[in-house]
Amino acid sequence: MSETKGQTAIAHTNIAFIKYWGKADPILNLPTTSSLSLTLNEYYTKTRVEEADEDSLMINELKQDSKRVHEFLNVLREEMGDFPPLRVISENKVPLSAGLASSASSFAALTAAVAKHNNWDLSLEELSCLARRGSGSATRSFFPDFAIWDKGHDDKSSFAHHYDVPNLPIALVVCKISGTIKKVSSSDGMRRAQTSPNYDAWVKESAKQLEDMKVALQNADLERVGQIAEANALAMHGLNLTATDRRFTYFNQNTMKVMEEVKVLRAKGYIAYATMDAGPNVKIITSLEQAEDIKAYLTERFRKIQFDIATPGPGISYE
Ligand code: PMV
Repeated sequence: MSETKGQTAIAHTNIAFIKYWGKADPILNLPTTSSLSLTLNEYYTKTRVEEADEDSLMINELKQDSKRVHEFLNVLREEMGDFPPLRVISENKVPLSAGLASSASSFAALTAAVAKHNNWDLSLEELSCLARRGSGSATRSFFPDFAIWDKGHDDKSSFAHHYDVPNLPIALVVCKISGTIKKVSSSDGMRRAQTSPNYDAWVKESAKQLEDMKVALQNADLERVGQIAEANALAMHGLNLTATDRRFTYFNQNTMKVMEEVKVLRAKGYIAYATMDAGPNVKIITSLEQAEDIKAYLTERFRKIQFDIATPGPGISYE
């Protein structure tokens, strides 16, 4: 029996230290700011595409609504030339409860699998550019360790690239706080955040923070990396609280409690800085050396919250 023709790609998720939070063009997914992220080893999506009678989507063996994937595949057909319908089979190793953007690894893996399946000869930057149309954060999931998504000014100039950082012993302690508040999608959240009177100031400050972050990374100054990332994340969440269109927050009580403990950990001399995305979970930036201690400390205080340690991860790969 011949095997169904197909292609498999693996992409790891990433966590932004300088966030993408707002669109200059919602159709092309052009961002208002450039962003910088760390790819994580522990969380990934493995996606296989096979020719089929219609576009469809399975995640972790369950059939899913394929509207978003179908629309994205149609964008690829428009940009790159037509190709037959695809069955998309995804294995998602991104715990949704960890509040890590599974859309980042999902759309990166899907773009890479489709490109390979169709024998498109594209660079990682060109793949990143295409993946942007599915999800902004996916632009950064093609690269190992650190990546920068340059905001660009049009469809062709907005993509991510690898950012080389000499030997940084970094780790994240990921707090899996379960979300009980109503979820605001990242697109809706951005739209509303952009109505904050502080939005323009945030865009300006973010450009400065990106430059400061590059210096801190080049100096392997983990403390400073954490400070800048925490300030950037808190300002992003401040936009949500000050939105004039239905202000909101992704934080819940546990988010606040863990953030308080992050300060306590700092007072004890640990490197510990918090970053949060479109959910209640806190990711603590620390050193490889201190991660286990911090995990143990927090596990002791929050019996119902699970903590993972995440480390820098690889770029896109194929099977
Ligand atoms: O592109 P999206 O829809 O996955 O948006 C990502 C937004 C944040 O995760 C909050 C920030 C970021 O830069 O990843």
